[in-house]
Amino acid sequence: MIRFENVSKSYRGQQESVVKNLSLEIPKGKIVVLIGPSGCGKTTCLKMINRLVRITSGKILIDGEDITKQDPIQLRRNMGYVIQQTGIFPHMTVRQNIEIIPTLQREDKDNIALNTLRLMEMVGLDPDEYLDRYPTQLSGGQLQRVGVARAFATNPEIILMDEPFSALDPITRAQLQDELLFLQSNVKKTIVFVTHDMDEAIKIADKIAIINGGILVQYDTPERIMKEPANEYVERFVGPKRLWTKPEFIRAEDIMVTNPATVPEDLPVFKAIEIMRTEHVDSVLVLDSDRHLLGSVSARSALNCADQQVTCASIMVAPQETAAPNRDLVWLLNKFNETGVRTIPVIDGSNRLLGLITTSTLLTTMSQQFSADSRKEAAE
Ligand SMILES: Nc1ncnc2c1ncn2[C@@H]1O[C@H](COP(=O)(O)OP(=O)(O)OP(=O)(O)O)[C@@H](O)[C@H]1O
Ligand SMILES: [Mg+2]
Repeated sequence: MIRFENVSKSYRGQQESVVKNLSLEIPKGKIVVLIGPSGCGKTTCLKMINRLVRITSGKILIDGEDITKQDPIQLRRNMGYVIQQTGIFPHMTVRQNIEIIPTLQREDKDNIALNTLRLMEMVGLDPDEYLDRYPTQLSGGQLQRVGVARAFATNPEIILMDEPFSALDPITRAQLQDELLFLQSNVKKTIVFVTHDMDEAIKIADKIAIINGGILVQYDTPERIMKEPANEYVERFVGPKRLWTKPEFIRAEDIMVTNPATVPEDLPVFKAIEIMRTEHVDSVLVLDSDRHLLGSVSARSALNCADQQVTCASIMVAPQETAAPNRDLVWLLNKFNETGVRTIPVIDGSNRLLGLITTSTLLTTMSQQFSADSRKEAAE
């Protein structure tokens, strides 16, 4: 775990600090993305972690230990670092670039060679074809891959990545993001990743730290940043329709109707019919006195019921499908499609009714996306 405690930085000769009283905890094995406009202090933050930049006040702790108490060379060797614009040494081959630090650390030669093969595989470069090439003989995307392989070469706990993919075309960039996520699913490094790009942040981050003018504005999961931006700045930064590019962040509880028509179990059927008429619905949910969901009664079954004095409980059917409040839009759409149901009650862990998703709720949700889109276009 990396912990910033009230960290500030002012560069020599400058009055204003470029990082202001930053406190932040980066959990072990997670990807944390620092994002913010140019000059807001992202690179400075990374470089304070590996002591390429001196902290003016405050502390950074790694696994509880103050980094200023550690030998900086040793500290850096335990951290992979991919810098803005690769930082690959031009006069060395790909192999030499990847092996430079393990070699400096006098690791076993055979092990290093074996590890290099594994790393090349990992970043999707054919070792036979590329290991002996020089950087000028590689494309930008291939160079970035070498940069990533090199950062992993000493198998460090912590990897710092400063806009590692920013110079790439969108397709290569997306590929490298996918590879990083795949890698991370196996190795679980603590990764601090800097970017300008909100889409990239949302895709790869466990948590996003939004920085503006050296101040931490919000530090949260991508989902919460999109749903509950801390202020207008974050809202603008995230953009109005961003949530819609991530349907898995839209949950049943966000879109359900919270006051669906319900009846108590002992209500006579004719009264249920009245309720359906006044509420303009074609079914009601049947609840017990603690709001536990028991079933539903459709208008048709109620009207066809020979004796309309009997209770709703006696003619109800058990719900075919229910959803937990955190089920996402994709899951819900699939359920509606697979089962052909027209409503799905949302219930909590003890079967109490929270709300109802209907096909028309879904349509409304989708059309809001549409109007957010058109509002944005109108504004442009
Ligand atoms: N060595 C330095 N001496 C003086 N000022 C510096 C130094 N390095 C950076 N700065 C200033 O500190 C501020 C933060 O710079 P930093 O490189 O951390 O920003 P950044 O968020 O990484 O920006 P970018 O997105 O453009 O890479 C900037 O105003 C920059 O000019
Ligand atoms: Mg930078």
